[in-house]
Amino acid sequence: MAEIDIRKTIVLTGASRGIGHATVKRFSREGWRVITCSRQAFAEDCPWPAGPEDHIKVDLADQEDVGIAVSEIRHRLEAHGGQLHALVNNAGISPKLKDGGRMNSIETPMHVWRDVFQVNFFAPIMLARGLFKELAAAKGSIVNVTSIAGTRVHPFAGTAYATSKAALGSLTREMAHDFGPHGIRVNAIAPGEIDTAILSPGTDKIVETIPLRRLGATSEVADIIFFLCSQQASYVTGSEIHINGGQHV
Ligand SMILES: NC(=O)c1ccc[n+]([C@@H]2O[C@H](COP(=O)([O-])OP(=O)(O)OC[C@H]3O[C@@H](n4cnc5c(N)ncnc54)[C@H](OP(=O)(O)O)[C@@H]3O)[C@@H](O)[C@H]2O)c1
Repeated sequence: MAEIDIRKTIVLTGASRGIGHATVKRFSREGWRVITCSRQAFAEDCPWPAGPEDHIKVDLADQEDVGIAVSEIRHRLEAHGGQLHALVNNAGISPKLKDGGRMNSIETPMHVWRDVFQVNFFAPIMLARGLFKELAAAKGSIVNVTSIAGTRVHPFAGTAYATSKAALGSLTREMAHDFGPHGIRVNAIAPGEIDTAILSPGTDKIVETIPLRRLGATSEVADIIFFLCSQQASYVTGSEIHINGGQHV
């Protein structure tokens, strides 16, 4: 009979860079099994325990590919008694104009709008619903990564991005309501200006007005994601935590 792996398991999208990369390191350090999902193959230069075996190459912009990934994840979770302790919907895209400028609500092409919603909003729904049984079996939790741009106009983040994040924030409340009776907690984190590749030139100007006067580190975001997935947050659901050095005030 195959042995059952007793480590806690997280499925994390967009693990190859930035916030996702810091999150995989945080959970890995705590002894969790981390199943990572992104378009790129596993990066050999950043090994964590069982990384390559637990990486799934998926394009979240492609609905069919997401469906295939869900089946593959469920198959891999069988080694854990079919339990999933956390799903973190972190992958996100934020298209800009060629010169790096903001894509506004008058000119953003519809195909860009659809791609952004597929990756930032529909993929999280598909993953959460597809992995519902495994999350319920573990009394697990979901963390959706939204953005400060979901609640205010941002100088660089485009309209499609902002509205997709607002929708994801709303979805977090809806899912907290619907998934709660099944023992699954659903929360969101809304980062401000975090030091990653997604940032635009000119962010240094924004930082001058943030109360804490600095960019956030990816590890500071990963710490809050970890907290929300831990027992210490066992009565927290339906919340959206700002991680922005006070930018929202
Ligand atoms: N950095 C910030 O200041 C900030 C602020 C507010 C919110 N956020 C949010 O935080 C999350 C992470 O941001 P980040 O700055 O760490 O971003 P990032 O450095 O650009 O990384 C994005 C991740 O998403 C993955 N990804 C993108 N498109 C994908 C697709 N179609 N299918 C599968 N994976 C895809 C990428 O992996 P591959 O390229 O391998 O596919 C990558 O791992 C995003 O949701 C972002 O909106 C960030």
